Amino acid sequence: MNLFLSLSLLGLATASSSSNSLTDVVTPQKGASCACKRLSRTFDGVIFPKNASYTEQAADKYWDIRADLSPACVFLPASADEVSKAMSLFNSCNAQFAVRGGGHMNARSNNIDGGVLVALEKLNDIQVKKDTVEVGPGLTWYDVYSALEPHGRVAIGGRLKTIGVPGLSLIGGFHYFNSKYGYAMDNVVSYDVVLGNGTQITATKSSHKDLFWALKGGANNYGLVTKFTLRTYDMPKVSTTIQVYNESGIPDFLNAVCDMALLDEKDPIAAGMVASVQYNATTKVTSASVLGVQEGISKPPSRFANFSAIPATTRINNVTTMKQWATDLDSPKQMFRVMFSHKTMKPDAEVLVSIYKAWKDAVDQIADVEGLYPTFVTNVASAPAARVALTNGVGNVWGLEDTGHILWQFSTGWALAQDDLRIEAWSRQLAESLHAINVEKGIASEFVYMGDAGEWQDPFAGIPKENVARMKEIRSSYDPEGVFSRLNWGGFKLGL
Ligand SMILES: Cc1cc2nc3c(=O)[nH]c(=O)nc-3n(C[C@H](O)[C@H](O)[C@H](O)COP(=O)(O)OP(=O)(O)OC[C@H]3O[C@@H](n4cnc5c(N)ncnc54)[C@H](O)[C@@H]3O)c2cc1C
Ligand SMILES: *[C@@H]1O[C@H](CO)[C@@H](O)[C@H](O)[C@H]1NC(C)=O
Ligand SMILES: *[C@@H]1O[C@H](CO)[C@@H](O)[C@H](O)[C@H]1NC(C)=O
Ligand SMILES: *[C@@H]1O[C@H](CO)[C@@H](O)[C@H](O)[C@H]1NC(C)=O
Ligand SMILES: *[C@@H]1O[C@H](CO)[C@@H](O)[C@H](O)[C@H]1NC(C)=O
Ligand SMILES: *[C@@H]1O[C@H](CO)[C@@H](O)[C@H](O)[C@H]1NC(C)=O
Ligand SMILES: *[C@@H]1O[C@H](CO)[C@@H](O)[C@H](O)[C@H]1NC(C)=O
Repeated sequence: MNLFLSLSLLGLATASSSSNSLTDVVTPQKGASCACKRLSRTFDGVIFPKNASYTEQAADKYWDIRADLSPACVFLPASADEVSKAMSLFNSCNAQFAVRGGGHMNARSNNIDGGVLVALEKLNDIQVKKDTVEVGPGLTWYDVYSALEPHGRVAIGGRLKTIGVPGLSLIGGFHYFNSKYGYAMDNVVSYDVVLGNGTQITATKSSHKDLFWALKGGANNYGLVTKFTLRTYDMPKVSTTIQVYNESGIPDFLNAVCDMALLDEKDPIAAGMVASVQYNATTKVTSASVLGVQEGISKPPSRFANFSAIPATTRINNVTTMKQWATDLDSPKQMFRVMFSHKTMKPDAEVLVSIYKAWKDAVDQIADVEGLYPTFVTNVASAPAARVALTNGVGNVWGLEDTGHILWQFSTGWALAQDDLRIEAWSRQLAESLHAINVEKGIASEFVYMGDAGEWQDPFAGIPKENVARMKEIRSSYDPEGVFSRLNWGGFKLGL
């Protein structure tokens, strides 16, 4: 079944080639040149621009074409010890480095011009235990669901196939089952971490408890995680639904999204979705789709009843496994240059519809952009999902209160580097002006999810001040030299 590719936000993959020329190799900085030399003396397989596999590493493994850069060299550690040695080396050379897990985050987060790129794909060990799974940061969520399937278990991770385990786990993790089990970060029971000085530690609820908390949403501000231990749940089968609506169905569709955000059952049934609107500015055709999953085998899945009541152009209900479901939900790498912008609001269907309409009108104004691929995406943060962290004795850095929220996002793809600034300005101004209206209406939230945010956004500005202060304190005790602030390039960095 190749349905997702033909209907979804990601569309049919027509992998375009990179428009960044990797042959214009940036002259390495002094620190990187020192680090690359010493890495290649210490380890086999360090990749330089002259090597055949360089383009694969510096470009092909990124989702956003804008992330294609020219590192001075690429290091693929095969163990935590190798990461630790490399970290000491970065320190003594004062070398800047970037880290890539699944490579799905935006530009300016996971690659570096003229520095060292640390690619984690060889850290790909996976061990299924009784009610946990130990996962290396080189793996994708599909790898995790595949390993768990024979045991009839699932983990709380990404909704699409090829998102990386490390990035998503460190920033939060929207999954189908958040309403019952919390976010992906709430389900990590142990982190093996290499700190900025090369020391290896394990953070759990009872050991390095402060760091354990800070890693739940604290992203790449503390260290390089070399192993995640995730809780798993008994769920041999899931009930799924794929529904597509034409333009007439969109107001009801957005209304049903708000219903999901408002659901606040005492004993929640785990159910969630990917819900988005696609608009083709050339053909003027709009469609919306929901890709829903619910625990258990009731068919159709009961929590999607309000979606199922809307006249659909496609509706496919099934009972299957998480692995099987994820198989077709690919997000092809190097498909386009892509910009995210996102804001948060209280569920209000009328306002959500007006945001969707304003977005569509605004897309018409940039219809001339080559390769334009605009998608309006919603994510649901429900009260019971927040309640998991509020009651589990650990919490997370978000400090989200237990009321429902809608995260709305513009995901905009395009083809040419010459349009980068235009798209960023368009997307940012549109999001900010619509958010300002919500502020006036009293329905805005300043919460910003790193996974949906553009690189122009500051997610730390949207979390409680006392949590930010605590995060900074924890950073100063685990990374006193500021290696992850000074030398680790990119991503959402906690201010000084
Ligand atoms: C198509 C698509 C679908 C998505 N779907 C979802 C979804 O369903 N739910 C959701 O919550 N989010 C989703 N996201 C957002 C996604 O979770 C983030 O982009 C996430 O960062 C991706 O993780 P990664 O490992 O692939 O990313 P990478 O780009 O490899 O890494 C992200 C950041 O983490 C750092 N990092 C990577 N590994 C480590 C490590 N081991 N230790 C320390 N730092 C590290 C990197 O340096 C980078 O700054 C989606 C994104 C895309 C593009
Ligand atoms: C890179 O190229 C050099 C010189 O040709 C070669 O010695 C080395 O083995 C290559 N490294 C890899 C990882 O292919
Ligand atoms: C469906 O809609 C009704 C009316 O808006 C609402 O009360 C109910 O909670 C919704 N159900 C679900 C499962 O979203
Ligand atoms: C939208 O789809 C519904 C359900 O298939 C159909 O009844 C309706 O005529 C369609 N509307 C338009 C404008 O195509
Ligand atoms: C329905 O689930 C079965 C069992 O996992 C799977 O083989 C089939 O491909 C699925 N069909 C659709 C349309 O998703
Ligand atoms: C919009 O439709 C045109 C014409 O069918 C097609 O070439 C283009 O790829 C479509 N764009 C998107 C974003 O689907
Ligand atoms: C590394 O940093 C940690 C955290 O600050 C500290 O506890 C440890 O002693 C340091 N190790 C070395 C070898 O300096």
